[in-house]
Amino acid sequence: MARYAHITGWGMAIPQKVLTNSELEKMVETSNEWIVSRTGISERRIASETESSASLAVQAALKALEVANVHPLDVDLIIVATSSPEHIFPATACIVQDQIGAKRAGAFDLSAACTGFIFALDLAAATIRSGALNTVLVIGAETLSRFVDWGDRNTCILFGDGAGAFVLQASDQPGGILSGVMRSDGSGAELLTLAAGGSKYPASQSTVQNGMHYIRMNGREVFRFATRVMTQATLEVVQKANLSLQDIQLIIPHQANQRIIETAAKNLNFPLEKIVSNIHRYGNTSTASIPIATCEAIQEGKLKAGDTVVFVGFGAGLTWGAVLAQWSGPLPAKKRVYPHRYRWFARLRSRILRLWRRLEGFFWGKNAA
Ligand code: COA
Repeated sequence: MARYAHITGWGMAIPQKVLTNSELEKMVETSNEWIVSRTGISERRIASETESSASLAVQAALKALEVANVHPLDVDLIIVATSSPEHIFPATACIVQDQIGAKRAGAFDLSAACTGFIFALDLAAATIRSGALNTVLVIGAETLSRFVDWGDRNTCILFGDGAGAFVLQASDQPGGILSGVMRSDGSGAELLTLAAGGSKYPASQSTVQNGMHYIRMNGREVFRFATRVMTQATLEVVQKANLSLQDIQLIIPHQANQRIIETAAKNLNFPLEKIVSNIHRYGNTSTASIPIATCEAIQEGKLKAGDTVVFVGFGAGLTWGAVLAQWSGPLPAKKRVYPHRYRWFARLRSRILRLWRRLEGFFWGKNAA
């Protein structure tokens, strides 16, 4: 029997703190007028000291599970696409797995910069269609504000923090994710980087002094690349699903710059009002931008069951890709589940496991080989 991968749940989480363009005017040599006219951004959200990529990811994930009516114990795999992980390792996805109590799930992070959410969606859908897994939680989570050089006006005006999540489930009902495109071109690697902190440039006095732990970007080159590949990937993914652009009700692109979105609309000859944009309020939240824009499109009634939608993204790497889906919504369920309520149990379980590990080490550790 044919299997389909449906998007059955969605959720988002954003920090409360808003950073406006006028506040940025006091930090670097820029102006509200320049930022709005060159990027479309008016404000962005910035994580507080107690927030992190994992904490935002957990909130978004629980909301998505609630919408899908899926219990954390039924999740088979968690993929967190992120460019600002909690640590180099362990994976942010493992922290999410522990905090939501998804004890039967595998968990890993996916690093493809802002295209990460698209790659994760395409992979999750393929895994479900193959029959290997039934339920996958795909999350995009970022606190890029931690890696922004607040003295670099080329980049600090662009980025914001947030997280978004989708639940994907197997079904024999036709629909869900119908096609995907994943592409990369490492020859453009140096156009957008966070160079240090890995094995090539481990943290040192010199990497800190040279600002190598910050995001650096060649904005003009990235702009040219982005407008080209957004058009290409959209056309490719539509063709791969044996459809035409006229069959598409909505495009939800990565939110990097309003001018990139407008150029792509023009190149595709696609009505701008059918392309979702909320960049004015959040800036570029990297892997989180597409699921956040999706949640808001649903809230505003722009995306409904049965609609055909294209998600398209691009980012450092260089990477780019698109996913085409027939929007479905939650699968019919026999009983209601409450993922939020399960969280206290997940916390208790995590504490017991940690305590048990210590006891094991204390009593039996000395005899270990
Ligand atoms: N405020 C005021 N002036 C600024 C500025 C700022 N925040 N940032 C740059 N400028 C200045 C530049 O110094 C330059 O001045 P000069 O002509 O005297 O040298 C001028 O504005 C034009 O700079 P340029 O880099 O050509 O601007 P732009 O129109 O290309 O806009 C970006 C810059 C970064 C907004 C734009 O290139 C962009 O969005 N690129 C894509 C970035 C992206 O999407 N990254 C994430 C990918 S996932």
